[in-house]
Amino acid sequence: MSSVTYNHQPGIDKTKGNIPLAGTSHIYTVTKLLWPKEIEEFLGTQLVGFTLHVCCGMSKLGDIRLDLYQPNIDIKASMDRLPFGNESFDTVLVDPPYNSKFQIMHDMLSELCRVARKRILFQHWFSPVDKLGQYKKNHKFILTGLYNWMPKTYFGRMQIVSIFDKIPPPIDKPKDEPTCPRCKEKLTYIKTRTIIPKGAYPPQEMIVHDYTCNICNINISFGSRDGNLF
Ligand SMILES: C[S@@+](CC[C@H](N)C(=O)[O-])C[C@H]1O[C@@H](n2cnc3c(N)ncnc32)[C@H](O)[C@@H]1O
Ligand SMILES: [Zn+2]
Repeated sequence: MSSVTYNHQPGIDKTKGNIPLAGTSHIYTVTKLLWPKEIEEFLGTQLVGFTLHVCCGMSKLGDIRLDLYQPNIDIKASMDRLPFGNESFDTVLVDPPYNSKFQIMHDMLSELCRVARKRILFQHWFSPVDKLGQYKKNHKFILTGLYNWMPKTYFGRMQIVSIFDKIPPPIDKPKDEPTCPRCKEKLTYIKTRTIIPKGAYPPQEMIVHDYTCNICNINISFGSRDGNLF
């Protein structure tokens, strides 16, 4: 009979050999980089711009590396209360502890989309995605990539890497000046709004501009991309 070891994951001792479960609260730390070289390299290629690495452990990825327990990090703080303003980072990468109480995980998920401007990279045993492909805590982030890998660490459990990208904010006013299809007079611009068309997968926010014709007294809406109406 072969024996199994869980080197570099002290959490396993605290659970007397059982796999740490979600909802338990003993401290989960690591004594060596858990990510194999290929995974660390792959994740590195997915970071855009100024990057925060939450729960960085022994990984060197990220411009700012944050952890609550590890040595040699930039910021010592808890993942559920990130000491940064809104949208402080282009990308936020996280590999949270395996166990954790549910509330702290929810708070952490909310914090990630608060401080991320463009992208969230979430590596764990679940994906925080809803059935429409949206990040559960903020629907402006859409799932754009999903990868999994089979580790020797992480208690031998399949790992999922979810990539969420924020949809760019709508443009205020289109460049074109549309005319009324009925009377051919210039239309009056009212407002721009975003909609998520039903049935589209992956869900993509669409920008819609609302106009009115003061002569015919009708409202007309146009979709747009890059300010060009269609
Ligand atoms: C799964 S490990 C990260 C492993 C890392 N990716 C690596 O390859 O070495 C999770 C990390 O979260 C840290 N951690 C645990 N609870 C935390 C909390 N509340 N806030 C921030 N970091 C925490 C642990 O110290 C540990 O380094
Ligand atoms: Zn008209």
